[in-house]
Amino acid sequence: MIFEPFRIKMVEPIRLTTREERERLLGEAGGNVFLLRAEDCLIDLLTDSGTSAMSQDQWAAMMQGDESYAGAKSFFRFEAAVKEIFGFAHVIPTHQGRASERILFSTVARPGHRIPSNTHFDTTRANIEVTGAEAVDLVIPEGREPATIHPFKGNMDTAALERFIAETGRGNVPLIMLTVTNNSGGGQPVSMACVREVSRIARANTIPFYIDACRFAENSYFVQQREPGYANRPVREIAREMFALADGCTMSAKKDAFANIGGFIGTNDDDLARRLKDLLILSEGYPTYGGLAGRDLDAIAVGLREVVDEDYLRYRIGSTKAFGDRLIEAGIPIVEPTGGHAVYLDAKAFLPHIPPAHFPGQALACALYVEGGVRGVEIGSVMFGRKDPRTGREIPAAMELVRLALPRRVYTRSHLDYVADSIVAVFRRREGVRGLRITYEAPFLRHFTARFAEL
Ligand code: F0G
Repeated sequence: MIFEPFRIKMVEPIRLTTREERERLLGEAGGNVFLLRAEDCLIDLLTDSGTSAMSQDQWAAMMQGDESYAGAKSFFRFEAAVKEIFGFAHVIPTHQGRASERILFSTVARPGHRIPSNTHFDTTRANIEVTGAEAVDLVIPEGREPATIHPFKGNMDTAALERFIAETGRGNVPLIMLTVTNNSGGGQPVSMACVREVSRIARANTIPFYIDACRFAENSYFVQQREPGYANRPVREIAREMFALADGCTMSAKKDAFANIGGFIGTNDDDLARRLKDLLILSEGYPTYGGLAGRDLDAIAVGLREVVDEDYLRYRIGSTKAFGDRLIEAGIPIVEPTGGHAVYLDAKAFLPHIPPAHFPGQALACALYVEGGVRGVEIGSVMFGRKDPRTGREIPAAMELVRLALPRRVYTRSHLDYVADSIVAVFRRREGVRGLRITYEAPFLRHFTARFAEL
């Protein structure tokens, strides 16, 4: 029995809308759900990032925030909580994950460099590419096949990693990344065996190994549940073991720290830490607050201890699975097995009549909004497709997905039943869903602001 292990002490009303209203609102938003107002969404599954409900202990800790500019008590509580789980020698706070990425990559990457990962998240990729370096995805083949069952579909293809290093030359690989869980590949976990092998390869080639740790607790829980030898190990210890295999991490505290804002970089490299802090001061702030208020640091410190609670993780991963199972029973194509923080609809299989060039994921996200006021996000050719520089033709992404990300501790199972009913309703009328073309796009991260017209 999966059951929310908390009571609700404060409520946030949801404004109900009609289908006609939603058709108009989506039209005004140019068919891009990012351009909708949040209050116009009944159930907002755009992201699990920064959308968590904080606990009473987190709110109480915020009242203890020390807002001193330098050396605040809040920083030391935050640093202690991070070190307890992550174990890195240096902890550098930032305002969110992408700030960690920007500071790290602008320090270590330059043109000619290539940085591998299982799958880089979009901001990670953009922060690498803006330095002139190349971001390369080396997920195992199963990770690109929505219907293939594999316990650790987020794993990196480590044979491909070794070939990649040999081809590129270790001097041109400033860093190896691994994203846990693999968000862009379906929220799929990475096994400890894979982390160990990537670590071995990194060390053999004297290349630093960094983990994109956003959903480390969810990943650790999957390891406990699925990987031989880990069944009786506490999640906290599993996380510790994983980070001990790495040289550092980037983290968005907006995910597995239940915070509404925040992040950090962890590293064991003294010299690099100094250089990162110099850059931090330029844009984020002094190294004991890094763009955050003292109270945010306290919320993160408490959140990190709460997120490794196994009753919470059982509910978290269990409710994501229960939601996915309802869809599978209705014959709806999703990425299987269900990942940690989200259920991913396979738009290519859901809308086989719409070719990738006409953005089936975006079309499905729009149909779902109109049907039930449910906001999900396309993770497909709008987000990851690119244009052939010679012909100007769209090169599609490997998968066409719609992600329904589940904010932590926010929606109940009856909310998710409503979402499932809405998806089933769209599925029944799927032949009528039409493809889209882009009428406006920005030069990078186009999915945030693009506008679309129906074909
Ligand atoms: N890495 C991963 C794996 C992420 O999922 C995200 C954010 C980031 C880095 C960047 O962190 O948002 O704090 O700057 N993912 C959010 C999402 C935005 O919706 O999946 P950030």
